[in-house]
Amino acid sequence: MLAMTYRVYGAPDVLQVTTVPTPTPGVGEVLVQVHAASLNQADLYLLRGEPWIARLSSGLRRPKHPTLGADIAGHVVAVGSGVTQLQPGDAVYGDLAACGLGGFAEYVCAREEVLAPKPASLSFAQAAVVPMAAVTALQGLRAAGPVEAGARVLIHGASGGVGTFAVQLARAMGAQVTAVCSARNVEQARTLGAEHVIDYAREDFTQDGRRYDLILVVNGRRSLAEYRRALGPRGRLVVAGGDVGTILQAMFLGPVMSLAHSITVRSLVARPNRDDLLFVGQLLDSAVIVPVIDRCYPLNALPDAMRYLGSGHARGKIVITMEHPNQ
Ligand SMILES: NC(=O)c1ccc[n+]([C@@H]2O[C@H](COP(=O)([O-])OP(=O)(O)OC[C@H]3O[C@@H](n4cnc5c(N)ncnc54)[C@H](OP(=O)(O)O)[C@@H]3O)[C@@H](O)[C@H]2O)c1
Repeated sequence: MLAMTYRVYGAPDVLQVTTVPTPTPGVGEVLVQVHAASLNQADLYLLRGEPWIARLSSGLRRPKHPTLGADIAGHVVAVGSGVTQLQPGDAVYGDLAACGLGGFAEYVCAREEVLAPKPASLSFAQAAVVPMAAVTALQGLRAAGPVEAGARVLIHGASGGVGTFAVQLARAMGAQVTAVCSARNVEQARTLGAEHVIDYAREDFTQDGRRYDLILVVNGRRSLAEYRRALGPRGRLVVAGGDVGTILQAMFLGPVMSLAHSITVRSLVARPNRDDLLFVGQLLDSAVIVPVIDRCYPLNALPDAMRYLGSGHARGKIVITMEHPNQ
């Protein structure tokens, strides 16, 4: 089978199309014929080996996993022993971040429990953009407690993979959503359900006097003190991504700030979770939320797709689509 592999950390040019043996599913695993896979910022960290902390899981000197790609959608084509829920022919999707990655390939083995039935109303490309981004958005919104109907929720970084789901999920929870993005994405954020949209180049939401019950930082470039200024009494701040400094502040200063100011500050490490995936799958099938795809590339153009992701301004998600001769 064909896979995009890399042997050394570096720029997207280190990725190569390689012919490798098709894997065999082990105990509790299934073999998936991948129809589509989507990119996440984590793929870029693991490709570059930066920030260095990424190497703790992926190999200090050289990458342990030769094929990247966490988010996949495809068909089960074989099952290993002990598999009880899935069978050949099932259309599935899932996030392989916790089971060895490998989605940028024609076939991949995955543990049964990280996969869920593909929402029937979605194409494989649409399904592949969901697992990591939507589950991160869901876990981020819930990380500091449930979102009450009418809650004022601000999503900082509302137009990328995680942000487009966060806006829609917050809206589906009944929140009044404020989205922060660049001018070119204002209309998209409104269409996805934001009541207010702030163009970060023209307005500073930490200075305009408005207060929020929850701020979810998806692509944040502000200090914790600045975010705190925009929180209402007993407000919650969840830092999922963005600037490394903000993430570290949330991890190490968050608990102190929470105690000192009667707010809740959390840093999020999202975990693949089948129940969460089933939950978003229902919302997708009932068209309460929709996947947002920016661009699709064939497997051999993964380096171009990675470069585009690295620009930091993808609008929604980037997808790799796989062609199989028998399709
Ligand atoms: N904590 C976790 O477990 C977890 C899980 C998944 C992802 N993450 C992290 O979450 C972050 C977002 O992931 P993603 O998949 O959504 O990335 P992404 O799709 O690459 O995000 C691209 C978006 O970021 C926006 N953006 C760039 N600079 C911005 C700024 N200064 N202010 C506001 N928005 C800005 C861009 O919007 P404009 O073009 O409008 O500027 C673009 O639409 C990453 O840091 C990722 O590592 C964390």
